[in-house]
Amino acid sequence: MEKSEWIWMNGEFVAWDDAKVHVLSHGFHYGSGVFEGIRCYETDRGPAIFRHREHLERLAMSAELYYLPLAHSIDEVRDATHELIRRNGLESCYIRPLAFRGYGEMGLYAPTAPVELIVAVWPWGAYLGEEGKRNGVRAKVSSWRRISSSSLIPHAKASGQYLNSILAKTESANAGYDEAILLDEAGIVCEGSGENVFVIREGEIATPGHTASILDGISRKSVIQIAADLGYEVVERDIARSELYLADEVFLCGTAAELVPVREIDDHEIGEPGELTRLIQAKFEDALHGRAQEYLEWLDFVEVPSKVTS
Ligand SMILES: Cc1ncc(COP(=O)(O)O)c(C=O)c1O
Repeated sequence: MEKSEWIWMNGEFVAWDDAKVHVLSHGFHYGSGVFEGIRCYETDRGPAIFRHREHLERLAMSAELYYLPLAHSIDEVRDATHELIRRNGLESCYIRPLAFRGYGEMGLYAPTAPVELIVAVWPWGAYLGEEGKRNGVRAKVSSWRRISSSSLIPHAKASGQYLNSILAKTESANAGYDEAILLDEAGIVCEGSGENVFVIREGEIATPGHTASILDGISRKSVIQIAADLGYEVVERDIARSELYLADEVFLCGTAAELVPVREIDDHEIGEPGELTRLIQAKFEDALHGRAQEYLEWLDFVEVPSKVTS
């Protein structure tokens, strides 16, 4: 990964190489952490963070669900992130806030272990590649089932939960695919290992609803809004595995990957990125980069002092 200069750690700006934790930190052993993946884009008006507040609200929600009291408010984390982007001199970057139980007490119930909070920012290109965004990716339905709300909290973005995504992603990568799509225990489609999924057939745009063990993606929400504004309703419903194969178009969306068409699933050809996918993708890209007037309110602009020219 590409280093930046500073990381914000529990209220302080710390040099990248000095942002360290003890090996006996609770979160390191048990996955007791929650995090966010956010992106900041270069725009005509300077760096802008996409739907920053919604991401920080989801961080706070995930922390609450896993009994991790945060010592900083959403506004404090927002301000710290703006300052961090300025100090690192970045125009665009990936933003990773993480709250985790730190060092001090072991065992599963460790309320006295402090809850630490960090924010790191660094340059990071599209997760599934620019080529994937252009021409589509090849996906594999995972043999691993998506975690369910009977044992974990799919709506929370919690560190330990990502072992499920890692198993699915690793399986698909080892088999030569770009991404995994996970089903639930009943065989109903949930989502990608780090993205929500949309299926288009005979003009209907469908995506799994909240009962399908999905993360309530902020990109997903944005896509639903964009589709509605373009005159298309997105139906939230159960999706069968075979519907993936029979679809006219399939795409994935998430902060890291952005909007990525899927061109093949389990060796069934979906085909070149379709018309609706292209239409929504173009608008989504415009929204991310501050080119869509109607979605400017989704951007949290980082004020950067104008450079002094001599
Ligand atoms: C499992 C999972 N689903 C969906 C998403 C997409 O969510 P968002 O659009 O908020 O990044 C992510 C990424 O955070 C994810 O990790």
